[in-house]
Amino acid sequence: MQNETHPRTGVDWPRAQAFLARERAHYAARNPQSAELAAQAQQHLLFGVPLHWMNDWGTPFALHVAHASGAVVTDVDDHALVDFCLGDTGAMFGHAPAPVAAALVNQATRGYTTMLATADAAAVGQALSERFGLPFWQFAMSATDANRYIVRWIRAATGRKKLLVFNGCYHGTIEDVFVDLVNGQPVQRSSLLGQVHDLTEHTVVVEFNDLPALEAALQQGDVACVLAEPVMTNIGMVLPEPGFWAAAQALIQQHGALLVMDETHTISTGPSGYARAHGIEADALVLGKPVGGGVPCAVYGMSASLAQRAMQAKQTAPPGHSGIGTTLTGNMLAMAAMRAALTEVMTPSAYTHMLTQAQALASGLQSVLKKHRLPWCVTQVGARTEFQFCATPPTNGSEADRVLDGELEHLIHLGLLNRGILITPFHNMMLVCPQTTPAHVAQLLDALDAVLGEITALSPSA
Ligand SMILES: Cc1ncc(COP(=O)(O)O)c(C=O)c1O
Repeated sequence: MQNETHPRTGVDWPRAQAFLARERAHYAARNPQSAELAAQAQQHLLFGVPLHWMNDWGTPFALHVAHASGAVVTDVDDHALVDFCLGDTGAMFGHAPAPVAAALVNQATRGYTTMLATADAAAVGQALSERFGLPFWQFAMSATDANRYIVRWIRAATGRKKLLVFNGCYHGTIEDVFVDLVNGQPVQRSSLLGQVHDLTEHTVVVEFNDLPALEAALQQGDVACVLAEPVMTNIGMVLPEPGFWAAAQALIQQHGALLVMDETHTISTGPSGYARAHGIEADALVLGKPVGGGVPCAVYGMSASLAQRAMQAKQTAPPGHSGIGTTLTGNMLAMAAMRAALTEVMTPSAYTHMLTQAQALASGLQSVLKKHRLPWCVTQVGARTEFQFCATPPTNGSEADRVLDGELEHLIHLGLLNRGILITPFHNMMLVCPQTTPAHVAQLLDALDAVLGEITALSPSA
């Protein structure tokens, strides 16, 4: 524990620790119903929550939700919380968007899962192909699985075994990606539970924005594909340097590998995602989380040539399991939700509103940080905005990792939550949705101003 003003973050640690103690007590006092439900859940749920990550909010006990609509989550103690986490992107277009709710109600008495297509299938395929410019699509139940399947298809189609990822990436819990660069060496992430295979055998890892390292890795001639977010978003945001993707694409092509863009988070950029907006021509694209308005489902698309090679791989394989797909994939409920989300929710006008509010949020954040003389930077990718504990944005995963500060994040998030604001528990990410209003943005900025006033030195020169 630190006990003086931290030179890099500018935070006064004794004040911050005292603030955290007060906020924990305040949280406990204002959430008695959540406390009661958390105690009950503790009896039969491992870690007391449906998914152990739910404890990563770091609250003294799990917050329980009564309902969520648009940009607002109402907890069981009847606090209306303005939500900038939005289910860590699953609800990027607002909670329970009306067209998706209507589609679900319509489907509710017409069956959920038959392992057969409905009329929504062709319509969703067409909507995806028009939006993203890739002709062939398949589905999954999560972005994790969509990544897993596209990597499998590409390994099968190319006959190459290796996957290349960028250091510090996250693409869901697809095992292959959990290899980090430690002192320049690939190392399997030590936090993985129950992982018995040596992931370094088939995964190559280089730093983002490092073209010479990318070229050296591709020159081995055994990389099936590069799986990447066009902007890294999961270790704090890391933007591509100008020209990085054009040069990277040329190298990938030159060495016979393929490029998969995981747009699960960067769909915040605009209706067709970051890659299309920035002229990146990927061989495959993955999108999960908000594509069904928050209903579990995901999609992955392929170029015509990859699709042909993938189909050939299946046709020439021995009969039996492909290892790709799950029973509920492409179920009737998910297809109905995706059709509504793609055609009525993820619209250009929704993005116009989101981008305007996100811009206001980003400049408001800069003013608040300046007021408190904090050397932190603000990065924005469309509807997604983040502040990081460093003066200039990191350029790769190692740099981004070095400025993460879980303790500091945690006390800021708890302070905001007690003031009616939710932001994403992992790092300092804020998303706006079509229902986020200027008043919501102002409420976040006021709350952050109050929290920062509590954790910085009373006198800037002190
Ligand atoms: C870029 C990216 N891809 C894939 C995933 C996995 O999504 P899910 O957990 O819904 O499978 C995530 C989750 O955060 C993500 O950030």
